[in-house]
Amino acid sequence: MTELNFRRHRRLRSSKAMRSMVKETYLHKEDLIYPIFVMEGENIKNPVSSMPGVFQFSLDTLNTEVDEVVELGIPAIILFGLPAEKDAVGTGAFHDHGIVQKATRQIKERHPDIIVIADTCLCEFTDHGHCGVVEGEKVLNDASLDLLGRTAVSQAKAGADIIAPSNMMDGFVAAIRVALDEAGFEDVPIMSYAVKYASAYYGPFREAADGAPQFGDRKTYQMDPANRMEAFREAESDIEEGADFLIIKPALSYLDIIRDVRNNYTLPIVAYNVSGEYAMIKAAAQNGWIEEKPVVMETLLGMKRAGADMILTYHAKDVVRWLEEK
Ligand code: PBG
Ligand code: ZN
Repeated sequence: MTELNFRRHRRLRSSKAMRSMVKETYLHKEDLIYPIFVMEGENIKNPVSSMPGVFQFSLDTLNTEVDEVVELGIPAIILFGLPAEKDAVGTGAFHDHGIVQKATRQIKERHPDIIVIADTCLCEFTDHGHCGVVEGEKVLNDASLDLLGRTAVSQAKAGADIIAPSNMMDGFVAAIRVALDEAGFEDVPIMSYAVKYASAYYGPFREAADGAPQFGDRKTYQMDPANRMEAFREAESDIEEGADFLIIKPALSYLDIIRDVRNNYTLPIVAYNVSGEYAMIKAAAQNGWIEEKPVVMETLLGMKRAGADMILTYHAKDVVRWLEEK
């Protein structure tokens, strides 16, 4: 009789303690960044219909939300702002009393230790909804850089701990670094949306942040989902220009890119688990088609396993509660 020869992988899965001993990847609350939408007005806590559990807050309702985040031990938030008025150049983005600047001051005064990350872009503030200034239907690169630099400086002045430019103009990291340094903010790091694809998964965010482009799309500045080599070029140039963190966005359909960037560069990597990814899980869970908690945990663990150090996610508050359940 021939002897069967095979590996018994199940030995290391035989009990909870054994499985726990050989576990390779962990999700920690310290990894999480929670997005918050702030808007002008009073007594506002508007539910975002395509993102159950996510709201737009006015400054007077914002404290309760941030208190909760602090209480849960989430180390960082990223702010997106909805101004009262929009114009062609997005003045609200770089105004010292813009909504993001006011929210930042208010939060840092109440909670000096939470890390406030300011999203640096113009699309929520421009009447045409593009991430840079436009001439006709063209989104101008170099003319946008100066405004982005001014936006970053006014955010840093308000007390933002990290500047996170999401606009995808070429040279934005260099322009923002110079502007910050010249204004005396050489210690404020840049978390660059280095690898950002032109994705259909941003749909719900555009409702939440009221930042949909009014004509055309973002394909002349955001990346083609078909491309992988382009991600190396984008990461490389942002590193050369002085980025301190690299964001890869979206996360779920781009886990290969997270792994590529992890294998080739040393900067901390942030996976942006975007609005459409959140909406899909929420919708399926509300229908009773999937179990929300294990699906969310598996999804985020996958992003860490792919190589992310941090995850920017709308699930953050739930995840902390789930991590602390057992
Ligand atoms: C704006 C911005 C977008 C997101 C973050 N910053 C939308 C876009 O580029 O159109 C998407 C975030 C999400 O979907 O959760 N520059
Ligand atoms: Zn934008």
